[in-house]
Amino acid sequence: MMRFGERLRMTVFGSSHGPEVGVEIEGVPAGVIVDLPAIQRQLDRRRPVGRRLATRRHEEDRLEIDRGLVDGISDGGPIRAHVANTDVRRAPYERLGDVPRPGHADYPARIRYGPTADLSGGGIFSGRMTVGLVIAGAIARGLLAGRGVDVLAVTRSIGPVEATWPAEAPLASLRDLAAGHEVESPDPAAAALMEAAIEAARREGDSLGGIVEIRADGLPVGLGEPFFDSVESELAHAYFSVPAVKGVEFGAGFAAARMRGSEHNDPFVWLDGRVRTTSNHAGGILGGLTTGMPLVARVAVKPTSSIARPQQSVDLATHRACTVTVTGRHDPCIVPRAVGVLENVTAFVLADLGFRGGWLP
Ligand SMILES: Cc1cc2nc3c(=O)[nH]c(=O)nc-3n(C[C@H](O)[C@H](O)[C@H](O)COP(=O)(O)O)c2cc1C
Repeated sequence: MMRFGERLRMTVFGSSHGPEVGVEIEGVPAGVIVDLPAIQRQLDRRRPVGRRLATRRHEEDRLEIDRGLVDGISDGGPIRAHVANTDVRRAPYERLGDVPRPGHADYPARIRYGPTADLSGGGIFSGRMTVGLVIAGAIARGLLAGRGVDVLAVTRSIGPVEATWPAEAPLASLRDLAAGHEVESPDPAAAALMEAAIEAARREGDSLGGIVEIRADGLPVGLGEPFFDSVESELAHAYFSVPAVKGVEFGAGFAAARMRGSEHNDPFVWLDGRVRTTSNHAGGILGGLTTGMPLVARVAVKPTSSIARPQQSVDLATHRACTVTVTGRHDPCIVPRAVGVLENVTAFVLADLGFRGGWLP
C-alpha cells in the first residue's frame, strides 16, 4: 500500500535506483500558497550531501513540481512532486536477491516479489522513499502554521548517549539549539558525544540507532477520530511506515506501566483563560483526542543494517551458509536523517486529522 491519509492523502512512488522518487498529494484545497523554498529546506535537512555522518551517495534532491500548482498556488487537483535519482550504483546490490543482507528487507522482499524484485539500493524499502513523505509533510506544515501549530523533531538519544532539556522549553529555542548540530539535538554537550559515537561506529564498520522526540505545540482540543483513527493510531501508522522505525511511544509511554495513577494522572488547572494540565504524562492525548497540551511522541530507530563487516547469511539458491559483506554507501546512523522526516510526517497526520475534524477548512 503506497497510499496514506484520508482527507489529505499521499501516494509515494519511485524507488532508490529508479529514475525518481516522489509523491502525489490529494486533498489540498485550491488557493493555498505553497512555500516551495520551505519544502526545499526540509528536503535539504534529510539530504546526505554535506554531512560528515551520512552516506556518501551524492543526491542534490532538487524539488520538481509536476502538477497541481499555478505560480506556487494550489489549483485544487492532486499535487505531484519528485526529485531525480542521479547518483545510482547498482553493482553492490546485484547478488542480494540470492544472499540477503541481515537486517534489511532483501529476504522477505525476494520471497514476496520473486526474482524480479527490485532490491537495488533497497528498492522501495530504501530510506530514499521518505523524500515523498517530506514533501507531503512540508506542504501540510504550511497549513498547520496558518493555524498557529508548530511541529519539531529532535534527537533524544544515539546509542547510549542521551540528551536532556527542559520539557517546557519553547520550540523556537529547541529548534535553534538543534540546528547547530548534524544530529539535530538541542543539548550541545550530548550532541557532540553523539556525533563522536557515530564516527567511532563508522570507523569500526558498525552502526548506531537512537530515539527521535517529536513535539507539536498549538494544537486545538479534540483532534482525532476514535475509535480506530485515534491520534496515536494515525501517528504510529505513519511513523512505522518510515524504514528502520521499530518503536513508538506517546507521553510517558512505556514508563507509564511502572507508574501509579496518582503519579501518572495530569492534574487539570484553569490557566490564562483555558484548561491546562500541570504535567503531561499523556503526551497531549486522552481518549485518542488532542488535549491542547503539547503532543509528545518518541520514535525508536534501529541501527543501520548495512554495515561494513562480514555477516552470516544463507545462499537462497544453494541453501548453504555463507558470508555477506555489504558494500555500497550507507548511513552509519539513520537518526540524523530521520529527524526531519518524522517531523514532516507528524505535520501531515495532524493536517489530515484537522481536515477530518473540520478544524481545517
Ligand atoms: C532516511 C533513511 C535513511 C536510511 N539509510 C539506510 C542506509 O544507508 N542503509 C541501510 O541499510 N538502511 C537505511 N535505512 C533503513 C532501511 O531502509 C530499512 O532498515 C530497511 O528497509 C528494512 O526495513 P525495517 O528496518 O523497517 O525493517 C534508512 C532509512 C531512512 C528512513
